[in-house]
Amino acid sequence: MASTSSSRKIIAVVGATGSQGGGLVRSILDDRDGEFAVRAITRNAGSDKARALAAAGAEVVQADQDDPASMRRAFQGAHGAYCVTSFWDHMSPDREREQARTQAESARASGVRHVIWSTLEDTRRWVPLSDPRMPTLQGRYKVPHFDVKGEADEFFAATGVPTTYLLTSFYWDNYIKFGLGPKPGPDGRLVLSMPLGDQPFPSMAAEDIGRCAHAIFRRGAEFANQRVGIAAAHLTGAQMADGLARALGREVSYQAVPFDVFRNLGFPGADDLGNMFQFNHDYSDEFCRSRSPEFTRSLNPRLQTYDQWLARHAAEIPLG
Ligand SMILES: NC(=O)c1ccc[n+]([C@@H]2O[C@H](COP(=O)([O-])OP(=O)(O)OC[C@H]3O[C@@H](n4cnc5c(N)ncnc54)[C@H](OP(=O)(O)O)[C@@H]3O)[C@@H](O)[C@H]2O)c1
Repeated sequence: MASTSSSRKIIAVVGATGSQGGGLVRSILDDRDGEFAVRAITRNAGSDKARALAAAGAEVVQADQDDPASMRRAFQGAHGAYCVTSFWDHMSPDREREQARTQAESARASGVRHVIWSTLEDTRRWVPLSDPRMPTLQGRYKVPHFDVKGEADEFFAATGVPTTYLLTSFYWDNYIKFGLGPKPGPDGRLVLSMPLGDQPFPSMAAEDIGRCAHAIFRRGAEFANQRVGIAAAHLTGAQMADGLARALGREVSYQAVPFDVFRNLGFPGADDLGNMFQFNHDYSDEFCRSRSPEFTRSLNPRLQTYDQWLARHAAEIPLG
């Protein structure tokens, strides 16, 4: 039976103008007869992206993860909350921890019934700080943007609110938004330089994360207090380069960048990402096992394959 707008349960979405949250907002809006209405949370309701969400039918609410009172107001009356931090906006593990704590405590205080927390592994459970394979960063992390998310799981557990711990994967969109696409080598031929060694690596279209989250909210209790990992494919660097070559109609070769070289590239966060790639490589079996494409497709039958995503987006990848 179709739900009326007043009977719909509200899903409050943090990061609604971004990749993960945006995908969830669009998925709920597309499901016109579905059981949920969507509340898009943004720091600036007047931005072009926020206004576009409002025009598409979302309730837009202004709140800031750094302002607990505003987050509590934004979650008030919601059935579900999608919680995500935006590490790369500030690159501070301490601030990310507080943002996660604020979201967890706001969900509890506002009576939210189901939280999805977009988390990642605390890599220190596999690679203790004493492990010399990769440098310890900031005195207490191996992969800061993973470790703090994993550490923050306990904030959500402590609330008692039924929580799904969603382990996401590397976005193919990083070719476009993070400058990680192929670049011309000295001979002009394209090279995909990534520190993946020869191990498979879980990845997916960012847009599909939200569609999976939508399915998790629909199936509710089944995923309460569960860890759920998602990916569309487990690809090696060579397979990623081959896909790019097919989509671009140009030769693209894969170059396995040594982890130490990547860590020392000098851009902000290179050391964090270098350690992340090494963790993914050294624990590839386990990292892939916890993110099954078959399971992910069962959540989201529209899950895009790598080739489908490339067919839609290859032209947007900067190749300079
Ligand atoms: N890139 C990858 O491959 C990858 C893979 C797995 C996990 N992740 C994780 O994904 C997270 C980021 O998610 P995303 O990619 O969806 O981010 P995103 O596309 O950069 O969007 C983040 C959104 O969060 C909102 N935001 C930022 N700071 C805020 C604050 N203080 N209060 C309220 N809202 C705030 C912004 O919206 P407004 O400007 O409208 O407020 C922005 O649209 C990161 O923590 C990253 O570690 C990334």
